[in-house]
Amino acid sequence: MTKRLYADLSEWWPLMSPPADYAKEADEIDHLISEAVPDARRILELGSGGGHLAANLKARFDMTLVDLSPAMLAVSKRLNPDCRHLTGDMRTFRLDESFDIVLIHDAIMHMTSADDLAAALATARAHLKPGGIGLFCPDCTLESYEPGTSSGGSDGQGRGMRFLEWDQPIRPGDNRYRVDLVYLLKDGDAPVRIEQDGDDFAVYAQSQWLSMLGKAGFSGVELHLVSGREVFLAGAA
Ligand SMILES: C[S@@+](CC[C@H](N)C(=O)[O-])C[C@H]1O[C@@H](n2cnc3c(N)ncnc32)[C@H](O)[C@@H]1O
Repeated sequence: MTKRLYADLSEWWPLMSPPADYAKEADEIDHLISEAVPDARRILELGSGGGHLAANLKARFDMTLVDLSPAMLAVSKRLNPDCRHLTGDMRTFRLDESFDIVLIHDAIMHMTSADDLAAALATARAHLKPGGIGLFCPDCTLESYEPGTSSGGSDGQGRGMRFLEWDQPIRPGDNRYRVDLVYLLKDGDAPVRIEQDGDDFAVYAQSQWLSMLGKAGFSGVELHLVSGREVFLAGAA
């Protein structure tokens, strides 16, 4: 993984994608969970990043947050000192515990091969109680992906950041696309600093999701739309 955002630039994540922006999506996820598993209490989130989604779920759920990046975990610990944080790779992570819900949000876009996605789904399945559910929330699928540009950012105390993101077309014969990012970083009175970042992301067709969830041991898979995002809700029989 080459993304500087998860390493030396991690401190800018809260200004790039502020926690409050996740409130509506978290409400919809809460609603989905409540319908599927009314007494759900414990959530394991894999690839929890800066903990922005978790910050909007933690009032109702007991959250265990796992991420590969110590820098992102440090950001999350500051926002969510009341949550449990663990370092781990979603492809190989194992904890001798089971949960009502295993959640993988946008971090699943980093599973750039079918083997990686299968390994992450196996991790999710391995940590579910009977009757629990896995919730997988990719940014998009092959059906919904659109190349394009987006921009954003916000201001904080004495700091501000803006970014431009350029999502390239999916490579022919592949399921990956390149994301290039430019950040404008303003710290106090210092001149704006410009930094560059980028990575490959992967998309899978809805049918691939269904087939891979089945192979990982999930059943009764449902496709829902949450804040415009296709979310796969999968049962652990
Ligand atoms: C966009 S961030 C997630 C942000 C998060 N949704 C939030 O609410 O702040 C994606 C995260 O995926 C993590 N990640 C990437 N590959 C991973 C892997 N194999 N296992 C665990 N985490 C991974 C990165 O370290 C990064 O923190």
